[in-house]
Amino acid sequence: MQLSSRAEAFDQWIRGSFVAINTELEELYFSAADRFRVEGVGDALKAKLRDEGHVHVVGLLKEGNTGDGFQSGFNVLGNVGLYLGALRRHELTNPAREERSPFPEASSLALHVGASLGMAPRFATSHLATHNRAIASVRKSFTSLPDEFLFIDENTRGILALQTAADALTRIVHIGVSSPVADVLFSTAKRALEDVIRFNERLFAQLDVERFFFCVRPYYKPYRVGRLEYRGANAGDFSGINEIDLLLGLCRANDPYYANLLVDKMSFMLPTDQARLRDCMTRTSLLDELLELVGEHAHSDWFRRNAAAYLEVCDLFGRYAAHHHDALVRRFIEDPATRLPQGALDGITASGPPLQVLIRSLEILRDMRIAADHGTIVSRHLDLARLRRALG
Ligand code: HEM
Repeated sequence: MQLSSRAEAFDQWIRGSFVAINTELEELYFSAADRFRVEGVGDALKAKLRDEGHVHVVGLLKEGNTGDGFQSGFNVLGNVGLYLGALRRHELTNPAREERSPFPEASSLALHVGASLGMAPRFATSHLATHNRAIASVRKSFTSLPDEFLFIDENTRGILALQTAADALTRIVHIGVSSPVADVLFSTAKRALEDVIRFNERLFAQLDVERFFFCVRPYYKPYRVGRLEYRGANAGDFSGINEIDLLLGLCRANDPYYANLLVDKMSFMLPTDQARLRDCMTRTSLLDELLELVGEHAHSDWFRRNAAAYLEVCDLFGRYAAHHHDALVRRFIEDPATRLPQGALDGITASGPPLQVLIRSLEILRDMRIAADHGTIVSRHLDLARLRRALG
């Protein structure tokens, strides 16, 4: 990757001093009686973070050169985004009390680079996950706290495995769901989903609730860039998860709820992911393909084999979705949030809506993915039941 010397210097600062200052601030907040208190704590450190970062941002803005090619621009966008995310975390900016970002230079840089890449002008999940380049094994992060590395690493492993499952299912589209060679692709998807479940169970068991809630999650809050407020990054901002939804047929791109969600996340994804998702939206799902065939071929060996493999993939995907919601979201967000004083809840979610609204929308997604059998959502419960019946 070719970076200008200014972009390189900013990158080194983000990987060095930036991490050290954030870590020191986290230790100050965390050791205080009121862990929630940020304002008035560590003011000198916060000023150092703001001023050191500002020098890099102004240099890059003057250079007006977002770098040579996509990778370099993407890297600058991630770095200015991490900087703004940290300023938000330390309450040096707060969208609720401002009409525009108090950091016009960082905003201009992010807007310029983001628009040139076709991405939202803030850091995205890919900056900290799939495209977080390790140097001598050290990847970018806000702090050097072990819980943050655990979170970033397990998220990334989960995303990589979901991408593998999505790739395998996409390949089935091209050979058709009745093909005898679909077997290898279904097995790849199954193994990948088993991996995701394993990683998420490990994260559930190992991540410290308090550290995550107080020291990791706050960096994912929404913040303003220029006038507009942008929601925080979340592990779902890649196309693979939606490719799985659509290809399995559990969610549909013409469902208004689901389509809204796709539109919302487009600019938070890499342009290559945006193209994959658009392409996927034009395909017939594997479920619809199987339902076309079930009447005539339910007794054929090939149908029974492939439909059974399809159902196993759906079951595993449903298990992943239920675990994300009922275990991860509950343990690391919902439960600790109940212990907070009223008013302190504002802005704890990455997407911005009040917690109960967010939880409800995640519940709807879970229910679509497990094809739940209740009247309040449109799920494929009846269609899956028809396939299961056909297989006896
Ligand atoms: C401590 C662990 C985790 C917690 C507490 C958590 C919580 C959340 C929350 C609250 C959201 C909604 C975004 C928002 O705040 O607006 C979300 C979205 C999402 N997360 Fe997680 N998450 C965790 C780990 C993971 C992992 C490891 C994966 C899988 C790789 C994952 C996949 C997703 C996906 C795909 C979405 C987008 C919504 C969807 O399509 O389901 N999450 N997560």
